[in-house]
Amino acid sequence: MFNFFKKNTAASIQHLPVTIDMHSHILPGIDDGSPDVETSLVLVRGLYDLGIRKCIATPHIIGDLYRNTNETIEPALATLQKALLAADIPMQVTAAAEYMLDDYFMELLQQPQPLRTLHKNLLLTEIPYTSEPVNLPEIVFHIITNGYQPVLAHPERYFYFHHHFKGYHKLKDLGFILQVNLLSLAGYYGKNAAEAARYLLDKGLAQLVGTDLHHGRHLSAFQSQKI
Ligand SMILES: [Fe+2]
Repeated sequence: MFNFFKKNTAASIQHLPVTIDMHSHILPGIDDGSPDVETSLVLVRGLYDLGIRKCIATPHIIGDLYRNTNETIEPALATLQKALLAADIPMQVTAAAEYMLDDYFMELLQQPQPLRTLHKNLLLTEIPYTSEPVNLPEIVFHIITNGYQPVLAHPERYFYFHHHFKGYHKLKDLGFILQVNLLSLAGYYGKNAAEAARYLLDKGLAQLVGTDLHHGRHLSAFQSQKI
């Protein structure tokens, strides 16, 4: 399925292996992704040319960095949709979010306002890169008992699992759906992440893939495979 991500493939990628991208940072100016609508247009046009027809934008919500709300996400989405219309780019774009599982997330979970999901009750989450939250089982329990199905973004990028693949089975047992970044398979995040991504797919542990597109360097990596 992902043969064209093997290294030393001469041809450039013509199409990604999916038509719906469920993880990206293409909304202008609200996280560490696209800084402005002009950049967003370049990124979305690039994804369209790679065969993507629907993008679910997933801006970060991180207590210490990006406290995005419906009040920041909806206007950014409307701005992008308007610009896409004007630029005649027929990409369907919706917006969910990518929730860091921090203390702020636990506050949000207790509020009556629903969280922003990918589809139905699918909730995109992430955890810190350097250390696994000690209370992860408890957090997942609260997510599930609140009616959400947690999806964990890019498990292959968390360093502490690189020499501990059993941890991925534990994440599944906790109740996560796992989502691999396509660029991990291509080696963009290094050899360890590539091996972990391959393991997750080969073992059938990961059920979703996404671009996690933030900027033009990511897009160029998809387009050129010079990574
Ligand atoms: Fe992301």
